[in-house]
Formats: sequence, C-alpha cells, structure tokens
Amino acid sequence: MRFLYAIREGACTKGACAVLFLAPRIERRTARSGCASKMPRLTIAIDGPAGSGKSSLAKRVAQILGYLYLDSGAMYRALALKALREKAALDNFLALEDLARGTHIELKPPTAEQEAAGSKNRVFLDSEEVTQAIRTAEVAQAASRLATIAGVREILVAEQQRAGAGGGVVMEGRDIGTVVFPHAELKIFLEASPEVRAERRWKEHQEKGELMALAQVLEEVRERDRRDRERSVSPLVRASDAVLVDNTAMDVEETARLVVMLAREREEELSKAAGREL
Ligand code: CDP
Ligand code: CDP
Repeated sequence: MRFLYAIREGACTKGACAVLFLAPRIERRTARSGCASKMPRLTIAIDGPAGSGKSSLAKRVAQILGYLYLDSGAMYRALALKALREKAALDNFLALEDLARGTHIELKPPTAEQEAAGSKNRVFLDSEEVTQAIRTAEVAQAASRLATIAGVREILVAEQQRAGAGGGVVMEGRDIGTVVFPHAELKIFLEASPEVRAERRWKEHQEKGELMALAQVLEEVRERDRRDRERSVSPLVRASDAVLVDNTAMDVEETARLVVMLAREREEELSKAAGREL
C-alpha cells in the first residue's frame, strides 16, 4: 500500500467558515494483478451516544479498509471551545451562528506519536491546534448545547458533506446516517449501556489525571444523551436502515471486525450490481 496525501478543501458557502481535511489516500491494489482495486469505496456512517465507542471503531475500520476517518463531533467541540473562550452566551443563537460562520476548523490525521497516545483526528481551530483542549467535560457539555442550534448545524453539516464527498470515508457523530449522509451505503448505530459508557469515559479522565467521581461522569453522559436525543433539530435517532450494534460486552477490535465484514459484503454487492449494469 502506498500512502498519498490529498487535500480536500471546502469553502463554506454561507461565510468564512471553512474546514480543511488533509487526508491520507490509500491506493488499494490486488496482490495478484497489481491493478488498482475496482471495489467501490463506500460511505460508512457511524452514529451513537457518548462513549459508545464510535471514534475508536470508526478509526479502526477506516484503517483496515484504507478509508478516510472523520470525527464530526470534533467540529462541534472546537466551536464550543471558541465560544467558551470568548464567553459567548450559549443561549444566544444568532451570535453563535455568526461565530460558526467566522470560524475555521481543520481536521488532519494524527502524527505517529499522537496516534500512539490515542488521538484520532488532529483538530485545528483558527490555525491553533486544539486536539487535547477540546477533550474536556466542560467542552463536551458546551458542544451538546451548540449542537441544538439549527443554524450552527447547517454550517457544520455542509462542511461535513463536502469533506466526505466521493466516498471511501468513515464518518461518526449523531446525525451522519440520518442527515449528513442519508444515502450512505453502510450505516451503523452503536450502542452500549449508559453505565459501561460512563465507565469508559471515567477511565479516560483517570488516565489524564482528571479526578472525577464515576457518578458525576454518568450524570453528565445521561444529560448529554438526553439533550442529543430530545433536540428538535437532527436528534440522535437510529436511521431505519442502520445496523444496530450493541458493544456493551465487546471490545473495539471485535466490533471493528464485525463492521469490516459488513462493509466487505456491501462492497461485493455494489460491485456485482455495477457489473450487471454494464
Ligand atoms: O466516540 P465515542 O464517544 O462514542 O467513544 P470512544 O471515544 O471511541 O470510546 C470511549 C472510550 O471507550 C475509549 O477509551 C475506548 O478505548 C473505550 N472503548 C472500549 O473500552 N470498548 C469499546 N468497545 C469501545 C470503546
Ligand atoms: O465523543 P462523544 O461521543 O462524547 O462526543 P462527540 O462525538 O465528540 O460530540 C460532542 C457533542 O457534539 C455531542 O454530545 C453532540 O451534542 C454534538 N454532535 C452532534 O450533535 N452531531 C454530530 N454529528 C456530532 C456531535
């Protein structure tokens, strides 16, 4: 496999907001023929609540398939960090929409060191790296409040669609299979019990030296779940054609194997269908 780097750049139609994706593009060649693989490159949408394992799963699946991995939640988090820094009122919808319009967010693949430390996408907010800074409980709560604003979502969704256009992408979030890519060839709705999801998040805080009671993390996860599921715009719901995967008792690797198997089946089906049409 040869790694090429391609830049997909999108300029927001509504204003200055732009998201730049520096994406590793992998050429897949068959061992026997040496020809570039003719397999279709899917759009894979992974949605689910906080701590269900979306990022770990999406990143691993993208790695195995040679696809681009995109963390849509990182965009809501980056914007929330800016709003917190600027002490913007989180209930002033028009001001937050303006803030989104004037913000530049970039997602890039991690360095080898960051990858070893568990980072998924590198995140840049107006050119400043905020990969770690957006991973706090305060930013998570603010992101889920910003995410209830229709105008903010419209701006970020347009960028996500532009970044994922062309397929060969695994994007994860809350509304990827329902709003961002409703025609994605494979949709996964990832679930796990709230207790297990809170424990996963709590362990991450512990590892970073942030001492939080498990009960507090569980409460915050439940609050964010409620806000994400009950908001009127693009609530967290399972798309009717999404495969429900409950990974309460599964690790990342097992879950990734299952999803890669489903992806290979879809690739085969689409390849056969394309062959019949010729
Ligand atoms: O992106 P999301 O909030 O859905 O979850 P994540 O960041 O992928 O996973 C949260 C934590 O749970 C990470 O530390 C994962 O390693 C861990 N995890 C796990 O232990 N078992 C799984 N099946 C999935 C995730
Ligand atoms: O990693 P975790 O599941 O904790 O959250 P995240 O994916 O980083 O997303 C942070 C917040 O952004 C979520 O609680 C959602 O409110 C919001 N979000 C959204 O509304 N739509 C998306 N496609 C992604 C995130």
